[in-house]
Amino acid sequence: MSPKFSQTTIEQVRNANDIVDVISQYLTLKKSGKRFVGLCPFHQDSAPSFSVDPDKQLFHCFGCKRGGSVFNFIMEIEKLSFPETVKFLADRAGIRLDDSPRNLQLEKEKETLYFVNRWAANYFYKNLFSPAGKAGLDYIQSRGISPEMIKKFGLGYSLPQWDGLIKQAQKDQISIDSLFKAGLVIRKDNGGYYDRFRGRFMIPIIDLSKKVLGFGGRIISDAPDQPKYINSPETSIYHKGYVLFGLYQSRSEIQKLDQVIFVEGYTDLISLFQNGIQNVVATSGTALTPNQVQLIKRYTQNVIMLFDADSAGSAAAVRGAEIFLDEGIDVSIVTLPPKLDPDNFIQTHGADQFRDLIRQATSLTQFKINLLVQQYDRETSQGIQKIISELLSSVLRMKDPVRQNLTIKEIAEYFALEERALFSKLEQLKRGKRIFRPVENEKDEKITAQQPRTKNKYDLAEKDLLRLAIADINWLPIIFINIKLDDIADPLNKELFSQLIDIYNNFEFAETDNITQHITDPRLAPLISELVSEPLPPNTDQRKLAIDCLAAVKRRTYEKFLRLVNAEIKAAEAKGRDTTDLLQQYLELRKGIENIESKKFFKEYIDEAEE
Ligand code: UTP
Ligand code: MN
Repeated sequence: MSPKFSQTTIEQVRNANDIVDVISQYLTLKKSGKRFVGLCPFHQDSAPSFSVDPDKQLFHCFGCKRGGSVFNFIMEIEKLSFPETVKFLADRAGIRLDDSPRNLQLEKEKETLYFVNRWAANYFYKNLFSPAGKAGLDYIQSRGISPEMIKKFGLGYSLPQWDGLIKQAQKDQISIDSLFKAGLVIRKDNGGYYDRFRGRFMIPIIDLSKKVLGFGGRIISDAPDQPKYINSPETSIYHKGYVLFGLYQSRSEIQKLDQVIFVEGYTDLISLFQNGIQNVVATSGTALTPNQVQLIKRYTQNVIMLFDADSAGSAAAVRGAEIFLDEGIDVSIVTLPPKLDPDNFIQTHGADQFRDLIRQATSLTQFKINLLVQQYDRETSQGIQKIISELLSSVLRMKDPVRQNLTIKEIAEYFALEERALFSKLEQLKRGKRIFRPVENEKDEKITAQQPRTKNKYDLAEKDLLRLAIADINWLPIIFINIKLDDIADPLNKELFSQLIDIYNNFEFAETDNITQHITDPRLAPLISELVSEPLPPNTDQRKLAIDCLAAVKRRTYEKFLRLVNAEIKAAEAKGRDTTDLLQQYLELRKGIENIESKKFFKEYIDEAEE
């Protein structure tokens, strides 16, 4: 669906949503003359400064000066963009914004799944209070979860039977097909079905409008061959990368404290919540995605990530933190004491000690330093080089130059280095910086893996670029302001480039005259001897060769991304998702290819390349 709505549509949505009606759902309004007044939801209001004018269909706060139409109110209170607000209010009024036949069918299916999931959540909840489900209630109680939390999170229990849910569905006339589409049952080879969740403590995953999207289910008895948690699969309503568990319950506290704590587990979140720490969300065992970052960004920019003390925990912390950095958000990291997760911690030490722990959050830089000094020997120059490069690579990801500067200061201070040296090193790294990165690398790698390694014109182009760099090392920065290292497909070529870049960054220029002598990696020996024994002919037009080879390599990448984006568009269309951004990407890629064809892409100077 296009996010652009016609003026008529917007008017239609406005007319269908009376401002007094809408605002009354968020605060108590009292009539006062021609207007309505109440306590402003946007600032700490003691006297009612918030006023709504039903005739003009406008609101205004005399305290914080916020005001506007019903759209402005919803944008502010629900933290939605304008198109999302139009959609939100259209949904509220039952107006269908797009009624192409396929979408209609999808909308219908989604409605059914929401309904079925809610019904199932209800069933699981009721099981807790039936004799057959006593084990479930006992388990929840044994974990110290209060009745209040059971209600607040809609917790439940799935009976230890193959068809507990299926039987109830038959009674309630719910079709097996909709159970299947919701991921609640699994199809057997012979065509029959059985319950996906059996004998599990059930945790519904709900979205911001309280719709049930799916479930997480924890085993309640020790069964070594069973996974601890089973989750609903991705369905037409449940897209895991777009959901943060607990946000529905925690968003007001997150806004109030202007801070959010990220934990990993469902039970961690529930337990913290019960103990008064309510500005929490959980990623629920999946890796953090940029979409989840976008989701939280609406509420706060202050993010604390809480991680287990083990090495898996640290790796996850760094990975997650860097996704935040990519989206322009700084994060602090808290590491828990060994062998404690947030749930154990707060049950053992209480909320005050938990808050103390949160106050001790370290910056990502400090966290990385701590990890790196364990990993490399900071007493050797090689070790320190490694540590510094790793740290600077995070600095490179920061979007805000002020933040970059502060971080460099932090690093310089810690290692007693001159800031100036770090800045010039950062400049060097920038030259090797990947300029073009429209789609995540993960998908990127899949394609690379599928492509057979053949000696084609692309391989020749890569080798000629290597020959250029060997002939004159100054080609190296120019090559890598035009492409990125990942554009080099052949693993050996890539490794050689990567080692050349290291040398370029770490040696004085005088030493790079005969650069290949510094490479001692035996894996690269045959490649180097091939390149050195067949050097560029003396009268080569190096500039022209560079442009041609870069064009070839670049073109291959663009075409690869074009195929990916195409596939994503198809997939998104099939799921009825918004394709605007993808189409935009598609057009940009097409334009990129045109620029390559007309050789207009080529950047010869580093300054030019820095956006
Ligand atoms: P943990 O193993 O840390 O579990 O997984 P937990 O949250 O502390 O749960 P309890 O206290 O043992 O009951 C963290 C999160 O990873 C996901 C779940 O979302 C879990 O909350 N997970 C874990 C799975 O999806 N599947 C699994 O098999 C394990
Ligand atoms: Mn736990």
